[in-house]
Amino acid sequence: MSKKIVYGFLIFLILIQFIPLDRSNPPVSEEIHIPGNLKPIIQRACYDCHSNETRWPWYAYVAPISFLIVKHVQDGREEVNFSTWDKYDLDKKLDILEEIEKKVKKDKMPLKQYVWIHKDARLTPQEKEDIMRWARNYHRLLKKQL
Ligand code: HEC
Repeated sequence: MSKKIVYGFLIFLILIQFIPLDRSNPPVSEEIHIPGNLKPIIQRACYDCHSNETRWPWYAYVAPISFLIVKHVQDGREEVNFSTWDKYDLDKKLDILEEIEKKVKKDKMPLKQYVWIHKDARLTPQEKEDIMRWARNYHRLLKKQL
């Protein structure tokens, strides 16, 4: 490979480090209600992408990996944000709770790529059961308000 290509690639890697990315944790307006014993489980498995309390790892500051991480957090928060529960109307809350149960049941969440790196985010069958039961009960409770 010619030296020019190698240098060009290095310069490219250096330059992409300067692309600004939003790694902010906006304020929490109202957290979704999770019972105390379940909270640490959901925090470790879901909060990095579905809350405003993301733990940004060091590699979230290294391009191009950072692009992927910031995108996951942005998309995750856009779909479901446990830190701004008050921003959703009742219908949306019901939708989200239903989806949580489905995604956890089918092992669609937490995202596979995330679990490869964060072994602690893997859910045991019991933890999956607990999350599903919580989402179901919460759904039932809210539905009564319709
Ligand atoms: C690494 C980031 C990440 C983690 C961790 C994560 N999610 Fe997600 N989640 C996403 C992204 C990105 C989307 C939107 C794209 C998609 O559906 O794949 C999403 C979508 C969702 C949706 C919306 C699905 C829909 O179609 O309406 C639900 C519900 C959800 N996640 C629940 C969870 C739960 C519960 C956990 C923890 C057990 C979790 N997620 C962990 C990134 C994540």
